[in-house]
Amino acid sequence: MRLAQILYSQGFGNRRDCAALIAAGRVSIAGRIVDDADFEPALDGLVFEVAGRAWPYHPRALLMLNKPAGVECSRQPQHHASVLGLLPEPLRRRGVQPVGRLDQDTTGLLMLTDDGALNHRLTSPRHHVDKVYEVGLKHEIDEAAIAALLAGVVLHDDPAPARALACERSGDRALRLTIAEGRYHQVKRMMAAVGNRVETLHRSGFGRWTLPADLASGQWRWVEVDPPSSD
Ligand code: URA
Repeated sequence: MRLAQILYSQGFGNRRDCAALIAAGRVSIAGRIVDDADFEPALDGLVFEVAGRAWPYHPRALLMLNKPAGVECSRQPQHHASVLGLLPEPLRRRGVQPVGRLDQDTTGLLMLTDDGALNHRLTSPRHHVDKVYEVGLKHEIDEAAIAALLAGVVLHDDPAPARALACERSGDRALRLTIAEGRYHQVKRMMAAVGNRVETLHRSGFGRWTLPADLASGQWRWVEVDPPSSD
């Protein structure tokens, strides 16, 4: 693939913008400026620099972000800034979108991708992707409430019971809760169903990924994409 096309695929603007960046000597590979838009570098392990910033080549983008409170995951944010504003422009331009949503006041692990099929696979109820939440509660939680959450509780306005796959107390007023679904405000509604109230909500795990301790709030990093599964 030509360098201009590589830049285009990675979100550096239209074809003319990418050719202009290269012609202006703003793109380098392995420390050497490459001003030939037709140059075809090996893609395996390619890292190019644009205006001094290193970019690993990723045919598909998969990222993890430590979402802070006060940003929205929706495409058209209503009351707060968009979580996409935390990403550099090339990632936004190549169409990276959140995988599912977290409420504006929820913090923690949010995956993002520009791969629609992968996004679908990770959010589809059919694929049962586990999510782990650290839940801070208003009231103490007792064994009866934990048993009810594990057995399945009925949410307001939704007859299908919502069940925790795992639920363990992590403090008098704190739980670690694992669920496979992602219904609207599901954790808050599950806690309301057992007479409690969520005061803080933080996601620490999503599928096979765990929020790294060294990923600060508001920061993101690349995640390797596995080859697509057959289902
Ligand atoms: N459940 C909620 O209630 N809110 C979230 O942000 C995620 C899960």
